[in-house]
Amino acid sequence: MAVIALIGMPGSGKSSVGRQLARRLGWTFADADAEVERQVGCTIREYFERHGEPAFRDVEQSTLAGLLARDKLVLATGGGAVVREASRQALSSRAVVVYLRSTPEELMRRLRHDTHRPLLQVNDPMRKLRDLFHERDPLYRACARFVIETGRPSVKILAGMILMQLELAGVIDPSHDAGLDAPAVDP
Ligand code: S3P
Repeated sequence: MAVIALIGMPGSGKSSVGRQLARRLGWTFADADAEVERQVGCTIREYFERHGEPAFRDVEQSTLAGLLARDKLVLATGGGAVVREASRQALSSRAVVVYLRSTPEELMRRLRHDTHRPLLQVNDPMRKLRDLFHERDPLYRACARFVIETGRPSVKILAGMILMQLELAGVIDPSHDAGLDAPAVDP
């Protein structure tokens, strides 16, 4: 399987852990949100404001389909990538899916100053995170082959935990782990 996809709530660390994982494997890293922004030519927040969430989900779905056809790719998805059945199907059939699972309280700690995520620009972001978590946790679980509780560990430790799971499950060859000091590979 040529794509490892990280899924999870906004703020769960998908991009930072994904980058580290790609570096350790010597694979390419891609961030689905950044790809969407490149395609639409504005930020996701602006796109939401101008066109609304369903239009964003359309672009997200087609962007994901393109990324899932790539090879030796670690992919950080947007937190809502599992909302659409078609995207869940595409993810679980085309990628090894890893769910970075964080509680709404942990997420709130990390996101309390965030101004980029359109869904969290509300009066009560904690409540929004709780609602999204309750709605999505079962979807993330249904889509994922591995579930990693993010808790306290650092990005490096989380990447190491994922690699260990992937190696134990025979998804990747242990000799592919290039170690902590491996250089980044740009897309
Ligand atoms: C979203 C999460 C964001 C981004 C968009 C919608 C969501 O990605 O795709 O704002 O529905 O949770 P991150 O998970 O990287 O914040």
